[in-house]
Amino acid sequence: MEDFDFENRIVSPTEIMGDTESDNPLRPKRLNDYIGQEKAKQNLAVYIEAAKQRHESLDHVLLYGPPGLGKTTLSGIIANELGVNFRVTSGPAIEKPGDIAAILTNLNEGDVLFIDEIHRISRAVEETLYPAMEDFAIDIVTGKGQMAASYHLPLPHFTLVGATTRAGQLTAPLRDRFGVSLRLEMYTPEELSDIIKRSASILGIKIESEGALEIASRSRGTPRIANRLLKRVRDFAQVMSDGKITLKTARIALDRLEIDELGLDANDRRMLWAIVKFYRGGPVGVETLAAAIGEEAVTIEDVIEPYLMQIGFLNRTPRGRCITKAACLHLGLNCPNEFDEQIKFEWE
Ligand code: ADE
Repeated sequence: MEDFDFENRIVSPTEIMGDTESDNPLRPKRLNDYIGQEKAKQNLAVYIEAAKQRHESLDHVLLYGPPGLGKTTLSGIIANELGVNFRVTSGPAIEKPGDIAAILTNLNEGDVLFIDEIHRISRAVEETLYPAMEDFAIDIVTGKGQMAASYHLPLPHFTLVGATTRAGQLTAPLRDRFGVSLRLEMYTPEELSDIIKRSASILGIKIESEGALEIASRSRGTPRIANRLLKRVRDFAQVMSDGKITLKTARIALDRLEIDELGLDANDRRMLWAIVKFYRGGPVGVETLAAAIGEEAVTIEDVIEPYLMQIGFLNRTPRGRCITKAACLHLGLNCPNEFDEQIKFEWE
């Protein structure tokens, strides 16, 4: 079977080249420009205002949810709203306690330190973070044996914003040190449509509402995908017509990109087909499925499954993954064992 290129496919919610320019003009800078995530946004607005009134640093914030929903964007906004510096790093980039010590000791009072993929920091780094988060101090040990010396180093008061796709993988002591914990939800097509119109206006793209909604409804609830599709659809609109994105040009372009009405691409459909053909609709363990389609289990769990579960195409059961009747109907099957009537299948 051909290898899936999940990371670079156009509907990948993880960042690919072209998404990450540090001055990405599509990234909103203020809370008022940030569309959707109403619950998280309203609560954050209160916490930010309260911290500012008290002239204190904001409590540490944990943002969790599937990739591409705007965790980095929201963290940048928090820093902007607080009027402080925004420092960015990630769990895998912090290799040893010395690395995080260097970052922490270079912060200014009130700064926001953003750690992406915080579930991937090592145990030793995590232990350095505990006193830093709790008491704004770190203990550094230098030298060995008789030459060993321990320093208690005070730090400026700062706000750690941690982002993770897997809140369940954080250790309890780390999770407990976040005063604020916000879960980001997938966006509705209407919210995504507003994001697309905002992005189109920034990029100088002409777009009709119906065209925006068509792109939105195929963007898997994810702004990062919506913005990426917008740019590709613009190319088709420009070459095929006058450059304006209408319902018709959006449909033609998205069909050419093989992204169906629900936002599934050829790889999603192939994964669903694999569950049907090899495992008769499931249940199948995620590791087994991963091996069958040549992908890592974490990619399936973090990147592919959230949306399939969101639209009711996949269930996680204690015995493994099962596809649903809705998924079968989408694939043009009445049931997964159309080929094999003896196999029992769970529809719920
Ligand atoms: N661009 C990416 N995410 C966004 C959001 N939530 N609101 C506005 N623009 C965005």
